[in-house]
Amino acid sequence: MKKKVYIETYGCQMNVADSEVVLSILKTDGFEITDDIESADVILVNTCSVRENAEERVLGRLGDFKNKKNKNPEIVVGVLGCMAERLRDKFFSPEFSHSKNTNVADIIVGPDEYRKLPALINKAWHGEKGIAVQLSRIENYDDITPLRTNGISAWITVMRGCDKFCSFCVVPFTRGREKSRPLESILQEVRELSQSGYKEITLLGQNVNSYNDRKSDFADLLKNVAQVDRNIRILFTTSHPQDMSIKLIETIASEPNIAKYIHLPVQSGSNRILKLMNRNHTIEHYYQLIQNIRNLIPDVAITTDLIAGFPTETEQDHQLTLELLKNVRFDGAFMFAYSPRENTKAYQMTDDVPEEVKLRRLNEIIELQNQIAYENNLKLVGKEVDVLIESLSKRSAEQMKGRTNTNKKVVFPKNGHEIGDYIRVKITNVNSVTLFGITI
Ligand code: SAM
Ligand code: SF4
Ligand code: F3S
Repeated sequence: MKKKVYIETYGCQMNVADSEVVLSILKTDGFEITDDIESADVILVNTCSVRENAEERVLGRLGDFKNKKNKNPEIVVGVLGCMAERLRDKFFSPEFSHSKNTNVADIIVGPDEYRKLPALINKAWHGEKGIAVQLSRIENYDDITPLRTNGISAWITVMRGCDKFCSFCVVPFTRGREKSRPLESILQEVRELSQSGYKEITLLGQNVNSYNDRKSDFADLLKNVAQVDRNIRILFTTSHPQDMSIKLIETIASEPNIAKYIHLPVQSGSNRILKLMNRNHTIEHYYQLIQNIRNLIPDVAITTDLIAGFPTETEQDHQLTLELLKNVRFDGAFMFAYSPRENTKAYQMTDDVPEEVKLRRLNEIIELQNQIAYENNLKLVGKEVDVLIESLSKRSAEQMKGRTNTNKKVVFPKNGHEIGDYIRVKITNVNSVTLFGITI
């Protein structure tokens, strides 16, 4: 009987893509993949360290896995991903997180060591705990076809790691140095996805703008990927404002099947804070970029990431962030309270903005940004948009869900349409995150 593996994934899209690589490695080695944790022989959790609450969710989950292991000691539990890389053999230590009773892991595997998983799992069955957390300058899993199940939308990791060292961020420590996959191997993967009928591809990297395979930059890659199959919509994430080139913006503008959507994290509206964050650009540079993008790509949607309560942030700095939101009028934002992460530069600064002030500022940012997103969406009422259908709506089997060419979520009646179709929808109603409409 084949052993069954279950995986649970936390964190960013790169982790989602990595879990598909992990499942591919294990399936090739003869494991069966299951969505049912109750029947699993191996429980894996692919983890995130970006903020403390991301880690706490996983630690809580490990407590649940411990209960399962108490009932069935044969189960192998593996911790993968960024927490594995950051905390390493602490997971084996009885003192670690004793309050949550999480000393449950049999194997600890960092993001660059997934090829070792089959061997580590087999050893764990013979009672040997295992750890593999070396970061590699070359591993990019280029030869592994991720185990994709959705049939419509695919992730392709085009680069791994990050060299930016923003002072608040743990990613350069958990993912190591930047490394880009060769353009040709990415194109080959796109061709295969095209042949399998995929309709949407998202190119992934922590900072795709610094993609460089020694011959091509990210704009070259994007152009080549877009030209493989015009019926495939191409998205990418994440861009860093420091090195987003005009060439890249022109490429997005000129290729019809590249989504007119850019996620461009800014983090703060204050130059003083940006400097402390080691973001390496000013707010003036950011405004100029936004202007260039909007000039070259009319109707583009732009989203961002923001952090409230970075060390030393004053009320005045916070007001500058609110100002930025009013001026740029983003279509959406991921908004976070600052969370100190061990080993980062900012960790050496005192986390001096009191929790209640952080949360108050965060709520002000959220409230303002939601109002702006709502007003942006209101302008779409009465307009027609092209939508790629992704799935049934969560709320009703009579409704379907898709996304516009600007990556906005749209809900509309099913009316015999199929997942994977491109259709036109007339927008009748909106809120700050979703458009509602009728098909025409
Ligand atoms: N590489 C991307 C970038 O440069 O924006 C995304 C990195 S991170 C996975 C996603 C977002 O998490 C960041 O843009 C930042 O807003 C947020 N973040 C990272 N570290 C954080 C921390 N210590 N506290 C709060 N938010 C954080
Ligand atoms: Fe973290 Fe900055 Fe790298 Fe993004 S660019 S992953 S925020 S260090
Ligand atoms: Fe989290 Fe690691 Fe992604 S820290 S955000 S899973 S790169």
